Amino acid sequence: MVLIKKESPLYVGVGVDGNYAASDPVAFVDKTNKVIPLEDNEMAVITAVDYKLFSLPDMRPVSREPIVVDIRPQMVEKGGYPHYMLKEIYEQPTSLYYTLNVQKPYLEAVAELMNRARVNFLVGAGTSYHSCLAGSYMYSKLAGLPTIPVVASEFIQQYGSTLDPDVALLLVSQSGETADVLRVASYARMKASTVMAITNVVSSTITRLVRLYIVQQAGPEIGVAATKTYTSQLLVHMLLALEISRKRNKIDDETYQKKLELLRQIPRLAEMVLKNSDEKAKEVAEMLKDSHHIFYLGRGINTATAFEGRLKMLEIAYIPSSAFSAGESKHGPIALIEKNTPVIFIAPNDSSRKQILGNVMEIKSRGAKIITLGTENDRELREVSDYFIGIPEVDELLSPILYVLPLQLLAYYSAALKGLDPDKPRNLAKSVTVE
Ligand code: M6R
Repeated sequence: MVLIKKESPLYVGVGVDGNYAASDPVAFVDKTNKVIPLEDNEMAVITAVDYKLFSLPDMRPVSREPIVVDIRPQMVEKGGYPHYMLKEIYEQPTSLYYTLNVQKPYLEAVAELMNRARVNFLVGAGTSYHSCLAGSYMYSKLAGLPTIPVVASEFIQQYGSTLDPDVALLLVSQSGETADVLRVASYARMKASTVMAITNVVSSTITRLVRLYIVQQAGPEIGVAATKTYTSQLLVHMLLALEISRKRNKIDDETYQKKLELLRQIPRLAEMVLKNSDEKAKEVAEMLKDSHHIFYLGRGINTATAFEGRLKMLEIAYIPSSAFSAGESKHGPIALIEKNTPVIFIAPNDSSRKQILGNVMEIKSRGAKIITLGTENDRELREVSDYFIGIPEVDELLSPILYVLPLQLLAYYSAALKGLDPDKPRNLAKSVTVE
């Protein structure tokens, strides 16, 4: 078999009883975990017993030892769940626990470079972009560091001309293969900006393009819908924000330790939320599954949660959905509210609780069906809601990690109840390797 790598990822798997090739080592991990990532313009000639690498166009032989990837076959099995998506939703207490152990020296180095930069951009696509949006609240509120979240496909046009050596970019891509993100990495390198990344895949292309990267440690994600990698990205942003806030003397040692302690509670709280909201999510999904349109509204950092909940619902259950910062609803979207229009509010008991309750009342008075996610002891919110999902009290900046969990379940059950396969949504691929 002759392989040539150009832009999209390509790996040779070196096995005992044969050699393999795929765009992702997950495809042959039941045969071997020894892989050779090919570089652009390299050719591999593989047979069952041998492989040779060459650099093109002059066919210069290349020698490269295989690396061992930390993916075991049981990690890519469904483990008794009907779909990978559900398995990965339920893996979040574990993946969050692993993410808490990301390598400290890398966190410190990225925090240092972000702190030194004149401007910081956070760049990603889809779900990873939503983590950037939530992250920008964390950096600003906890560390007093302004950052600009930008959708990768728009970055070069919108901000390309502003790049210079004093600018830093934190690229977020679970796969590390998203073409729009890789293009930003190459462009920013050319401009001598500091380019860093958060990724979940150790051997991915992005790790070879950036100066520094943090590996999320969430374990392989097979479902097309990003779930555990999203909450893990949020946690990495939070860990970084905490490091930066210390560097900028925004918090003392005692507060730092207290915040770390709160972070350590997150896996346990995530487990509770999943356990307590599963049945309710099924019940709400039964009501939502035939909807023509669903609205998701949040405020502050949970505007990102509203965006992410909407993306999950439309990409796997194919239900048209819109998400807005709740403050925007009366600037237009409220015109679409009719009797029984489902509106989902993300309304924790935080600094925007009073305003969002006002938004709930505005929308309720137009006859909408009100679904709220709020603090479990929030009786007032529960009483004005048609459906209420209670979440344990949590620090405002950590709330997106817990509040997105019932929204993932809601999307999953809506798709499953419609008889759709949540792991294989139409027209979508796990990694979008074309621009
Ligand atoms: O691998 P990446 O994080 O770069 O992927 C970005 C998006 O393609 C991805 O988040 C996509 O939006 C998912 N299907 C969302 O569930």
